[in-house]
Amino acid sequence: MKTPLPFVTCYLLLAFGSLAPAADSPGSFSARFVDPDAPENAEVRAIGERAINRIAITLVNEVSVAVTKSGAEKAIDVCHLKALPLTGEIIAGMPRITGIKRTSLRLRNPANAPDAAEQLALKRVEKNIESGVLPKVLVQEIDLPGGKSEWRVYRPVGVAQQCVTCHGPEDSLTPGLQTRLKERYPSDQATGYAMGQWRGLIRVTVSDAPAAPVPAAKAPTPTKKKT
Ligand code: HEC
Repeated sequence: MKTPLPFVTCYLLLAFGSLAPAADSPGSFSARFVDPDAPENAEVRAIGERAINRIAITLVNEVSVAVTKSGAEKAIDVCHLKALPLTGEIIAGMPRITGIKRTSLRLRNPANAPDAAEQLALKRVEKNIESGVLPKVLVQEIDLPGGKSEWRVYRPVGVAQQCVTCHGPEDSLTPGLQTRLKERYPSDQATGYAMGQWRGLIRVTVSDAPAAPVPAAKAPTPTKKKT
């Protein structure tokens, strides 16, 4: 454990780019950041952070395996082709997660471009970092038509050692990888990073709580099954 990064290490190497959950484009857009430490936001924050942890672990594992097995050049193929389901539960067992995305101020894949609300989050983190603070999490409430809301939970991700293989200075990348990146991502802006720098955001969308919540949990005390 000798990673001095202020960021949670590792993350998200895969092709989230193609994801476009409906919740991504709030029509008449109105978004505000809310206090992640306020009790009324605790539930949303917890759901969001749990989802982000799950995503991060899965992706790190998958990419590490791919890079180790076949090298970075091939691993970007794996990443490129990877797609997550667009319907149903995005993360198993987490029905309130209705969207996930990675975005950045310097994009590799233009499909990961921030929408208006994400742009606000990127700018906010950029400002914070300029003033020496790295926020752990941002929680943003977005108004939806009909008086409903949804929330977005963002986590800044930093550049860890293994990210530099594919996001480091261009001339440090293997020639094969450079060629592959040029083919796939002709407008790639996501090189030139050094370890410890801020790379972008992972975002999840958390839907509003069910309208008329039934207070009791769905599965009460497990009763013994009759055989
Ligand atoms: C095997 C090469 C590889 C490694 C290693 C890698 N990435 Fe990437 N990264 C990519 C590719 C390819 C994309 C574009 C994926 C797509 O098409 O959506 C990408 C996209 C991203 C994006 C989405 C925004 C954008 O620019 O399109 C973020 C954020 C990101 N990477 C962060 C990281 C971080 C943090 C690490 C280290 C933990 C990392 N990457 C390691 C290849 C890699």
